[in-house]
Amino acid sequence: MENKLIYIALVLLTSLVNINCAKQRIQSCKATTPDVLGPYYFPNPPRRRQICDRDPAYHDQRHLLVEGRVMDESCQPLSGARIEVWQADHEGHYLFRDNCRGYFFSENGGHYAFLSLHPGTYSTDPEGGLFRPAHIHFRVLKPGYDILVTQMYFAGDPNLGRNDSCTACSSDRSDLIVEPREMCPDKTGKFCFSIAHFDIVLKRGGDVLVVPDIDDSAMELMDIAETGK
Ligand SMILES: [Fe+2]
Repeated sequence: MENKLIYIALVLLTSLVNINCAKQRIQSCKATTPDVLGPYYFPNPPRRRQICDRDPAYHDQRHLLVEGRVMDESCQPLSGARIEVWQADHEGHYLFRDNCRGYFFSENGGHYAFLSLHPGTYSTDPEGGLFRPAHIHFRVLKPGYDILVTQMYFAGDPNLGRNDSCTACSSDRSDLIVEPREMCPDKTGKFCFSIAHFDIVLKRGGDVLVVPDIDDSAMELMDIAETGK
């Protein structure tokens, strides 16, 4: 039941966000800064837009809705881009293979959205003194464009930049740092979300010749809303 409500809210929120974004006209789109792939990427993630739902704290934690658009460097929307995401659970553990990861496609207008939890932090410092800032990994593929591997970070995280235990990572780059806002779609305040807006700009290239699957994720989302799975 709760999953069903979450997905209905996700559909509604995505619609609202799309309307808001349609009013924004970005004049200049710079290719998104790449970042380190990291050791926890595994190919062939499951296709879904709700990740970390096996986290023991899933029903106790405030959900994080990440939404945005995929565009090219001329600010033209790119639909049908395959977006793979993976992250640590709320305690900073990577519970692979099939919990906190998934893939989906950008839709009309380049819009995408997925539901998760705020990721926890963990250390890659051998001496344990430094930690990674909370982050979500992205790998984005679209025929005719370079594959983008990057990470999304959260404003105000004390482990950003030079405090990051990953010295090769790009957590000091402003285009990778989001500032989530709170939204409560119903008046009870029971189903509140943190919403992070993260636009992705791909660089024209040619790394990907074929992206498997057909973009029917909107239909998939409505199916899930119906069945509550
Ligand atoms: Fe990571």
